[in-house]
Amino acid sequence: MRLDLLVRGGTVADGTGGPLRRADVGVVDGRIVLLPGDSPVVEVERTVDATGAIVAPGFIDVHTHSDAVTLLGAAGHELSRASVRQGVTVEICGNCGISLFPALPERMAPMRRQSEAQFGEQIGIFQSFEDFVRAQRAVPRANHLVSLVGHGTLRAGVIGYADRPGSPDELALMCDLLDRALTAGAAGLSTGLIYTPGTYADTSEVVALATVAARHAKPYVTHLRDEMSRVEEALEEAIAIARLSGAALHVSHHKTAGKHAWGRTARTMPRLAGLRAAGMDVTCDVYPYTAASTSLSAMLPPWANDGGIDALITRLRSPEQRERMRQAIREGVAGWENTVGNGGWDRISVACAPRHRAAEGRTVAEIAVERGSDPLDVAAELLIAERGEVTIISHSMREDDVQRVLTGSFSMIGSDGVPKPGHPHPRWAGTFARVLGRYVRDLGLLTIESAVHKMTGMAAERFGLAGRGVIRDGAHADLVVFDPGLVADGATYTDPLLPPGGVRTVVVAGEIVVADGADTGRHPGKVLST
Ligand code: ZN
Ligand code: CU
Repeated sequence: MRLDLLVRGGTVADGTGGPLRRADVGVVDGRIVLLPGDSPVVEVERTVDATGAIVAPGFIDVHTHSDAVTLLGAAGHELSRASVRQGVTVEICGNCGISLFPALPERMAPMRRQSEAQFGEQIGIFQSFEDFVRAQRAVPRANHLVSLVGHGTLRAGVIGYADRPGSPDELALMCDLLDRALTAGAAGLSTGLIYTPGTYADTSEVVALATVAARHAKPYVTHLRDEMSRVEEALEEAIAIARLSGAALHVSHHKTAGKHAWGRTARTMPRLAGLRAAGMDVTCDVYPYTAASTSLSAMLPPWANDGGIDALITRLRSPEQRERMRQAIREGVAGWENTVGNGGWDRISVACAPRHRAAEGRTVAEIAVERGSDPLDVAAELLIAERGEVTIISHSMREDDVQRVLTGSFSMIGSDGVPKPGHPHPRWAGTFARVLGRYVRDLGLLTIESAVHKMTGMAAERFGLAGRGVIRDGAHADLVVFDPGLVADGATYTDPLLPPGGVRTVVVAGEIVVADGADTGRHPGKVLST
């Protein structure tokens, strides 16, 4: 027997959640061959010694915003590799209603501006999934990429950034563009119902689109309309959308954030478990941190963003409009999440502001005290100067809520990583190693096999990744070898790209991309169609 690669002497966590077992794992032509103890291996190209280590299917990061990171060129190189260095062999992007496609040609100019604010300079926007795949194919990547279709992008691509319902014709066009993208290989429909322009959609619009996803047997993936004081109402909306459309429901980065919602996972998780027991196909994902990360513009009421970035900047320049925003944050607006009202500017720090590196890592409240000005004015000036391109970190969750979601039997792991230069949230480079180090080994909240299942087999099943997420004969040879005693996240809020410890080897499509913890510079990754 000839093997391209042999991973010898390790303990296999096969991705199904089944018990750990001793086995050697071979690779031939990018596929796995499981070897019983004493099989005669005649010829081996390369051997990896996995003695004392766990051999698992490559991790599937079910929730990323890494749509454009490899398109950033040299600036994105270190960022893009942070994911594979913790063992992630498939990233699922296009989350929270934001993807890089599809759009009608006549809508693409304003969308380029939005995409610049979201993903960094000169990223652009693509008319179709196929165009997106072509652009990705032209740049090297270490691991695989899967994309959902973002509802906000789809809405901007047909209707624009206006705060109004779509006409029947516009809705039909959105359904058609979605249908084409799903046919071409996108993995499902995502919404981000706190973000403009997705937030301008009512429930019936989302039901119509989720019905298209259901026809493709692809999931409806949602960032709920509210993850704070009205999280339970927002969850009921998602459940109704799934019921009315027939689509499977996947709740993104499930959390109950802000002081009014702390502890509410004690109600939301049993609610989801009850639906599953009654036969509904519902799952969620979670990242292992008590801080969230999003764009600074999402801290402002929805009307402030009506019309897109240029309209937002015009409003921010007007003292009267700023006063209205201050008041909206103080008093709330019906149907709006209001992160700052639920927490405070002292819980919000600047993560990425490319023209204001000195502001990165500091809270908006701190900067305001230093300048002797009001925090909303600090936020407004930053947004104007950065043309809307500011990412923040918001310390808004409680550890018991994070643990309750993480240990749920139907929750998988998604970093929600926002890989942008600056001080991005450490979850992009730390999530998977942190779950295995802190929550499995140090706190004992999960077994290795169950944590690996959440990172692999469960995720592959949810997102239709056939032949991935498991170690069995004939499966794709995406593998990770980690030391269960050493694995730990290195990334911190001050140093967010520090690599993890204990991740020895990562294999993508049969090629070694990380060897002894170091990047080999190989790039066998592709965009996968589902
Ligand atoms: Zn989100
Ligand atoms: Cu997200």
